[in-house]
Amino acid sequence: MATLIDQFSRKIDYLRLSVTDRCDLRCSYCLPEKFHDFSEPDNWLTFDEITRVVGAFSRMGVNKVRVTGGEPLLRYKLPDLIDQLNALPDVEDLSLSTNATRLVANADRLKQAGISRINVSLDSLQPERFEQLTKGKLDKGLAGLMAAKAAGFHPVKINMVVMPGVNDHEVEDMIDFCIEHDFTLRFIEVMPMGDTGREAAQQCVSLQDIKARIAKRYVQVAGTDLRIGFITPISQHFCKTCNRVRLSAEGTLYMCLGQEHKFELRPLLRAGISDSELEQAIRKAIDLKPEKHEFNERPEKVLRFMAKLGG
Ligand code: 5AD
Ligand code: SF4
Repeated sequence: MATLIDQFSRKIDYLRLSVTDRCDLRCSYCLPEKFHDFSEPDNWLTFDEITRVVGAFSRMGVNKVRVTGGEPLLRYKLPDLIDQLNALPDVEDLSLSTNATRLVANADRLKQAGISRINVSLDSLQPERFEQLTKGKLDKGLAGLMAAKAAGFHPVKINMVVMPGVNDHEVEDMIDFCIEHDFTLRFIEVMPMGDTGREAAQQCVSLQDIKARIAKRYVQVAGTDLRIGFITPISQHFCKTCNRVRLSAEGTLYMCLGQEHKFELRPLLRAGISDSELEQAIRKAIDLKPEKHEFNERPEKVLRFMAKLGG
């Protein structure tokens, strides 16, 4: 079966899989504190349905899958789903994005189930600021992070959303922390998604400034094992090489984080379509993938919150 190529000649080989839109944290740029408008669990794809969709994707060359949320570990028995996905012959790389609050209990089991890499969101190393930013406890997140390391995940990647006046002065501390623990670090620019993201993005500096700042102080980083990445969807977007699509917990395929182009798979799955019809449907969806996001031109556009699809 031929690979998936979109209208702009991009090969799609990566699926981000959201297993729930719920989260036990409330990061200020992501979910409003009193947010209650979560999707109905009845509408979530079952593990068998998810596995069927991932199987179809993998037969068309999508061999990398990242499991995300919301907070994916809030989904009951998540490691059992990982077992199922890992058993698919064409899936080669299974990774997980998490806020780490539940990793103490799950890290070993996830490793055994076949997760190869873990990304953890961590925006502050100061307990008060962490709590203010996320409404959660720093200790719990750090314990989870260390559990991932102890379980043998390597590298563990830290994602830090950098916000001026909020945590940008912690950038150097975060680098030191990651050198100490041998974590990989990625700085991220806030995207205007939902009211919360839009508000945070209004006063966001470009990461280009941070890059210049740390280049001065950390010339020697090149000589350590630390890899620092910059995810700059706003100041320098990378849509030309986008290789991914996203599946929501409810079985909607989203073609772009910054656009509304989507395709509903759940009704088809529940109407009993065949595997080849499912593959056809996915091809049709890929044809809808837009050329690029418009976060700069139309920051008002995306109403859905980040937690719906994860990073
Ligand atoms: N812009 C950029 N990153 C975001 N995240 C959540 N909301 C936003 C946003 N509006 C990040 C989280 C996590 C990753 C999954 O996405 O902090 O690191
Ligand atoms: Fe939860 Fe992640 Fe959103 Fe924070 S960014 S509220 S951890 S889904």
